[in-house]
Amino acid sequence: MKTHFTKSILCIGAGYVGGPTMAMIAHKCPQYRVTIVDINPDRIAQWNSDRLPIYEPGLDEIVQAARGRNLFFSTDIEKGIRESDIIFVSVNTPTKTFGVGAGMAADLQYWEKTARQILESATSDKIIVEKSTLPVRTARAMERILFSTHNGVRFEVLSNPEFLAEGTAIQDLEHPDRVLIGSRQTESGLKARNALVEIYANWVPQERILTTDIWSSELSKLVANAFLAQRISSINAISALCEKTGADVSQVARAVGMDPRIGPKFLNASVGFGGSCFKKDILNLVYICQYYGLNEVGRYWKSVIEINEYQKTNFVMTMLNAMFNTLSGKRICLFGFAFKADTGDTRESPAIHIATRLIEEQAELVITDPKALANARSDLKQHEERVQFTEDPYEAASGSHAIAIMTEWRQFRELDYERIYRSMAKPAFIFDGRNVVDHQKLYQLGFNVYPIGKPALTHL
Ligand code: NAD
Ligand code: UGA
Repeated sequence: MKTHFTKSILCIGAGYVGGPTMAMIAHKCPQYRVTIVDINPDRIAQWNSDRLPIYEPGLDEIVQAARGRNLFFSTDIEKGIRESDIIFVSVNTPTKTFGVGAGMAADLQYWEKTARQILESATSDKIIVEKSTLPVRTARAMERILFSTHNGVRFEVLSNPEFLAEGTAIQDLEHPDRVLIGSRQTESGLKARNALVEIYANWVPQERILTTDIWSSELSKLVANAFLAQRISSINAISALCEKTGADVSQVARAVGMDPRIGPKFLNASVGFGGSCFKKDILNLVYICQYYGLNEVGRYWKSVIEINEYQKTNFVMTMLNAMFNTLSGKRICLFGFAFKADTGDTRESPAIHIATRLIEEQAELVITDPKALANARSDLKQHEERVQFTEDPYEAASGSHAIAIMTEWRQFRELDYERIYRSMAKPAFIFDGRNVVDHQKLYQLGFNVYPIGKPALTHL
């Protein structure tokens, strides 16, 4: 196809990563044609509509500006493959639920199908970029599939993991800490790597574009997520100790984080980390360690997940103990359901676990969240009769025995808690799973306040 574009880029997988990442390339590089394809026609229809399938601050603006100009969403995967020079693959790589490695290893079926489809449809040489998070050495499997026929088409596989966080995806993509590109150290590998560097160099400073061998790149992504999650589990483990000893986890985090070797970020104690990636990527890392016989190493990383599970369970136990060991028939209001603020995503949200445990205790739930109610409804559909949903936090809290803050939405800090207190059943409880509200003030209003990792403030 002859066009005025200097490169044709394809992305397979129009999800949380594929959509924003490609929208940013299209936004920064009007000289390239960027197409995103997906097997899910509803998702593509949403990307082509005024209501995008994901909520991400700043995303609407850049999609609207580039769509139809040099950014296209389509279900025609075959045509997309034929017409592109570079193919990013950003399909989902969830934890395997069956067979060998069930509950731990990455399920690579979507990934492999994509590789086969590329092989089937490609009629000219392509650079294939691993954007999804994958087990180390997946590029080798990809190469084995792509090199399995001799039709004259040549492929070069690169690893270019994505480090964006949801809720800040656009900012992260526009000003990345680093862009990591792993390649084979062969002449054709380095040439392909340079082609990818050239794309990012349109807006990312050269010193932030890091090039490595392919295995280091693949592994770095898993390790980065493992380290981030480890920090949260570390501070959460300490929060439990604070609750027993009267220390305040925020003050401990501040004192510890002022050491520049440790740093202040990612030390917010919480009800536990959620999101589609931390747990799955650590399980994947543990599985790889076990595969190579490194059982102690695997156990070390697994403990990061174990502490996270403990944190969620502990939160429910605190609620149960504080509320006189029975939640049966009590109305409990969850403030937030998203796994973090500024996203509608609820994948692996701690709120799912907490809600389910509260329902097991026969509580009646009412859930409020500014962006995640549709996902919350679908996550809890088997408990329909015990859960209500409302966008209005005042309505949600009214008549409740307790509020449990699940997500650190800014809105929740700014509510009129005096009004809320008046509308609740007494004694009124608030369990702050994110340490975001003013605990002293709420206590003075009459609430019994249970923060994470700080002494409870109670009138009882
Ligand atoms: P997602 O589920 O939102 O999107 C994946 C998309 O791929 C889906 O729309 C699905 O329909 C599509 N797909 C699956 N198989 C396909 C096929 N054969 N052909 C065409 N489309 C296909 O997932 P996501 O959150 O975007 O994550 C994608 C990858 O990126 C994962 O490996 C994840 O670990 C990694 N990652 C995610 C984030 C994040 O914040 N969500 C950040 C960094 C890395
Ligand atoms: C995370 C990483 O931050 C990204 O770099 C990575 O690209 C991405 O995973 C991925 O591979 O999917 P994300 O899960 O979107 O991004 O969001 P985070 O900001 O990392 O938060 C993850 C969870 O940890 C949330 O539930 C959040 O509330 C929780 N968290 C975070 C804490 O409990 N305490 C903190 O101090 C920080």
